[in-house]
Amino acid sequence: MTDTSTQVQEQRRPGVLGVHSLDHFAITVPDLAKASEFYSTFGLEARAEGNDLGLYAVGNTHRWGHLQQGARKKFGHLSFGIFADDMAAFNTRLNQLNIARLAPPPGHDDQGIWFTDPDGNLIELAVKAKSSPVEKSAFAAISAPSGVAAVRGRSKVQAVHPRRLSHVAVFTTDVDRAVKFYTAALGVRLSDRSREFVAFMHGPHGSEHHMIAVLKSNGPGIHHCSWDMGSVNDVGLGAMQMAVKGYAAGWGLGRHVLGSNYFHYVRDPWGSYCEYSADMDYIPPSTEWLAGDHDPEDSMFLWGPTPPEDFVTNFEAAE
Ligand SMILES: [Fe+2]
Repeated sequence: MTDTSTQVQEQRRPGVLGVHSLDHFAITVPDLAKASEFYSTFGLEARAEGNDLGLYAVGNTHRWGHLQQGARKKFGHLSFGIFADDMAAFNTRLNQLNIARLAPPPGHDDQGIWFTDPDGNLIELAVKAKSSPVEKSAFAAISAPSGVAAVRGRSKVQAVHPRRLSHVAVFTTDVDRAVKFYTAALGVRLSDRSREFVAFMHGPHGSEHHMIAVLKSNGPGIHHCSWDMGSVNDVGLGAMQMAVKGYAAGWGLGRHVLGSNYFHYVRDPWGSYCEYSADMDYIPPSTEWLAGDHDPEDSMFLWGPTPPEDFVTNFEAAE
């Protein structure tokens, strides 16, 4: 067996049908120029593509975010990557679950399967290369070797850039129903949850602790997109590079309990969040993760400032 085939084997849980990656998310915003400024400041590459905006990690060709002009900020869809030889099995499964297929939304020519979750959130399953990590992502705890000063002064600070999309959190009116739907239709697995308030799910073929989270609300919408950073220092530097450009509102620095990631959330111009994340737990295809149901006070954060009172407010549903 060659190294390549070994690696492919390691990226797949044999005999299990499930999405392998969260390929990208799509939203509409009322002001693409403002979005471009926000996400560029965050450290992403925001590229004009026709009338739309694509979000890329610097130095990477994968489009993680697709923004279109709309009357207001609104969740568009989540697109999950599947293996080509799973397409027929997914179609059979969706038929068994009586899930109606939809036409792709305007401007999308993907050859994917489109449908909605029980909250009306639009989902696509499409054959894509696996973009989720194949192992726990590198995380630098030590900034410099012995004999070298790690910190060189604030004037020498350079912009930090996320390495990839980590996950997206969407709102649901019923966390139980959403977990049942996503685990049945997409083959994702429950990682951990906190009562009826929030649930985190991972892909079965090697995935971070969550590629998707669902949060209790009074309607559908997107709560945040989250981006992987290489150290706590990069999370802090990201927070500062946003704050000096006027994006100081948010929540952090802190460490989550479920998923274990260090975080700093920056509020976007429309009331949802963009998260810097580092050191999230990783679930390889060989691991059966034991999902827990945790008390809210024992699930949200290990340490950090008190979250803003409106942290889980769904401004899309309120409009
Ligand atoms: Fe998150």
